[in-house]
Amino acid sequence: MLPLIAGNWKMNMDIDQGAALVFRLRDLLRNVQAVEIVIAPPFTSLHHLNHLLADSGIKLAGQDLFWEKSGAYTGEISGEMLKSTGCKYVIVGHSERRQLFGETDETVRRKVVAALRHGLKPIVCVGETLDEREAGKTLSRVRTQVSGALSGLAGSAMKEVTIAYEPVWAIGTGKTAKSQEAEEVHNFIRELLHELFDRESVRNVRIIYGGSVKPDNIDELMAQPNIDGALVGGASLKAEDFARIAGFQRL
Ligand code: 13P
Repeated sequence: MLPLIAGNWKMNMDIDQGAALVFRLRDLLRNVQAVEIVIAPPFTSLHHLNHLLADSGIKLAGQDLFWEKSGAYTGEISGEMLKSTGCKYVIVGHSERRQLFGETDETVRRKVVAALRHGLKPIVCVGETLDEREAGKTLSRVRTQVSGALSGLAGSAMKEVTIAYEPVWAIGTGKTAKSQEAEEVHNFIRELLHELFDRESVRNVRIIYGGSVKPDNIDELMAQPNIDGALVGGASLKAEDFARIAGFQRL
């Protein structure tokens, strides 16, 4: 499986700013090989940026979706709509959506099912808060989130799924989990997948890390055996930083 480096732009970049960033990225990432690169701009830019990304190899992701196909759901975006803008991936259950917009393990599960139904590859985010970590509940929290999000899925669907471990205390704080700390949780998630599905179906599931990923910590993170990529927030808004992260050095 190729490593996956994904940039989550969050609520940043209007159409012109996004286009300028994409032009720089196209240029800087031209020679990066053997890495799958994805960016998740705001919904409003997806269609335009899809045209600008043509032939670049950089793929698009939505930052969220709603599980219904269409109807009276003011403000929501369906999987079909994302698909029509050119998205291949969609982020589901980001901690900001869980904390600020009331997402639960059950809404995350419904979104994962909807993504798969529309041919979008879900990047399912999980991760503990600082309180949970300090109370020694990291692994039990992650277990509940992963098994809740994937509950009822057929093993055959798992080849489309990526798990993003993003400890909430490391997001936007400049505090990265030490690579060893992250690896411990990634390894736990890998074993949990073996418990939930047959080994063969989850062989190529990528478990990526997010939380203050920067040019100066990516190489060490990627050297861990169960870290298969990164979900990058702040540093994905700077073309040079994101390009350095995507072009990480294999230690
Ligand atoms: P930062 O890289 O800004 O910490 O954000 C991580 C994140 O939430 C990516 O989804």
